[in-house]
Amino acid sequence: MSEDSSYELVIGDVIKQLPLKAQKRKFNLFIADPPFGISFNKSSHEYGAKEYNLYQDEFTPEGYFEFSKQWIEICYNSLVKNGSLYIISGWTNLQYILNALALSKFYLLNHAIWYFSWGVYTKRRFATSHYHILLLIKNKKNYQFYKQKKYDEDVFFWPEYNRGNDPHRIKGHPCQLPIALLEKLILTSSSPGDLVGDIFSGSGGTILAARKTDRDVIGFEIREDYKDIIYQKAKFGKSLSQENSVTLESYLPK
Ligand SMILES: C[S@@+](CC[C@H](N)C(=O)[O-])C[C@H]1O[C@@H](n2cnc3c(N)ncnc32)[C@H](O)[C@@H]1O
Repeated sequence: MSEDSSYELVIGDVIKQLPLKAQKRKFNLFIADPPFGISFNKSSHEYGAKEYNLYQDEFTPEGYFEFSKQWIEICYNSLVKNGSLYIISGWTNLQYILNALALSKFYLLNHAIWYFSWGVYTKRRFATSHYHILLLIKNKKNYQFYKQKKYDEDVFFWPEYNRGNDPHRIKGHPCQLPIALLEKLILTSSSPGDLVGDIFSGSGGTILAARKTDRDVIGFEIREDYKDIIYQKAKFGKSLSQENSVTLESYLPK
């Protein structure tokens, strides 16, 4: 891992801040894990725990659709010609994201599923056990795609992973994606030295994954009070030379 890649966090609304950054350098890849828009609140068992600092997540359906249209268009305009965008979404508001995408110039190359098994118990419905991962490209004839294994299928699963054993998980943010997933997306759709945009930074996992894979990265997060969490998780000001790639073994008990 080289120590030459650059990383930065912008605190502010990505709708305003992203175009300013793209004026200086266009992005090769965006990872977007937008707010879910499900109004999660303190009574929900997982998010109610004291250490979580909840972010504003309330949208009307129309508001969510408009918001999705806005950031998707800004992403399109901020990407290089062979650039890609990954959108990670739960199922609840996926329809608005897909409708917004249908109005955009992006081409949907894959609609993948990340299947996880977190031991969530439900009484009268199936337990949600997946996220949707959409891979969008600008140009069907020219895009980066580097398979990570021979049969690289569109259902991702890390059997040993559950949130409790994530070595990178940090207190303070309610929804953190595993670094193994983020690394996979970055390695598949960009090259070392490329610029990755982490447009809804949250806990900063994408910044860490981009640093670990020698990409330049800019994160955007609207909440000032997540700054320290992001700095800590993405190891701002620290060398990553001791960090190894995330493997399945990372999730096994030590
Ligand atoms: C689902 S979380 C992202 C979690 C992240 N993938 C992780 O692994 O930690 C969405 C984040 O987007 C932030 N956010 C919401 N609206 C935003 C906006 N307009 N600009 C920048 N960040 C925003 C929220 O504060 C929240 O931290």
